[in-house]
Amino acid sequence: MQEKETLVLAISAEQPETAVLRKAAQIIKSGGLVAFPTETVYGLGANALDETAVRAIFTAKRRPAYDPIIVHVASIDALSQLATEVPPIAYQLAEQFWPGPLTLILPKSERVPNAISADGPTVAVRCPSHPVARGLIEAAGTPIGAPSANRFSHTSPTTAQHVWHDLNGRIDLILDGGSTQIGVESTVLDITQPDPVLLRHGGVTVEMLTAVLPNLQIPQPKPAKPNTPQRAPGQLDRHYAPQTPLWLITGTDQQIRHCLKERIAAQDNPKDVGLLLAHEDATAFEGHEGPVEFVGALSRLDDVAQNLFYALRHLDAQRPALILARDYPETGIGRALHDRLRRAADRHIVC
Ligand code: TXA
Ligand code: MG
Repeated sequence: MQEKETLVLAISAEQPETAVLRKAAQIIKSGGLVAFPTETVYGLGANALDETAVRAIFTAKRRPAYDPIIVHVASIDALSQLATEVPPIAYQLAEQFWPGPLTLILPKSERVPNAISADGPTVAVRCPSHPVARGLIEAAGTPIGAPSANRFSHTSPTTAQHVWHDLNGRIDLILDGGSTQIGVESTVLDITQPDPVLLRHGGVTVEMLTAVLPNLQIPQPKPAKPNTPQRAPGQLDRHYAPQTPLWLITGTDQQIRHCLKERIAAQDNPKDVGLLLAHEDATAFEGHEGPVEFVGALSRLDDVAQNLFYALRHLDAQRPALILARDYPETGIGRALHDRLRRAADRHIVC
């Protein structure tokens, strides 16, 4: 791919400047690529109805063509243009959770290029709440196809600097609207089945969904066996990953701390071990000589979500030989945290 100059423009996250939105919309309309903040993570956007522009997203991200892309819309009215059939449950869910971090899988209309859906029969649609994302879709006058704006299988970006690090020279514009608020991606929900199936944990939690969908199906990943470090999960699943090998440690708080200490002691040089911890772990690891990142308190998992990818990238940049990450309780947004860490991990250790 030929290098191009990537422009960065600052934009207000609360009241995006019209002139900046217009410039970005112009690039989208002419088939270019614009990275922009959403409430979850930064997205890499192109005109969703322009097949060539959509293919350029795959090239820029080095994303394999078999991985479909989410279409972002400004309102529920756009659904009828993108899907052949919109079941009543879609309207109910949209009413409750849009604009916001919920992506719905629907049967795809012919207007949507096959590249978006990786040649499959469905399309993923989400209506973001971030004023910059909404302003951009409206100014461009078209739905915007956008995966997370990272290099394929890397940690998702929560700042414009992260996008620059991964995609500088490969895209036209980055809109810098500061840090994203939720910090993990949207929840993906397949409503083409008789019972809705949760495909990815995210900003809208299982607790929130089951209040509306009592028959929600949640496929379970294969459980890890206690005391047997194993490759986690399948190679193909490795995603959200830093360059440094990462081991995820699951257990009670006490078990996690004990297990972390054992693993640190087992390394030749403890200075080479980076730790990704919660505030509650601070006293237990006060003397640790290697890099340490605290993502937030266990009692405030929303904060942990907001900081997780930032902390992971920061730790990775310090180039430890190994990152040891503590796991989080599987409740609320904790399920998304567990899922992302499990996919980022080379090994999952259940103590
Ligand atoms: O929060 C988010 O969802 C962010 C922001 C930018 O909106 N986007 C995002 O996109 O995370 P991406 O491409 O990194 O992840 C989209 C996920 C992928 O796991 C993809 O396989 C799945 O959604 N997906 C997309 N279209 C699908 C479809 N038609 N059927 C099933 N899964 C689909
Ligand atoms: Mg992604």
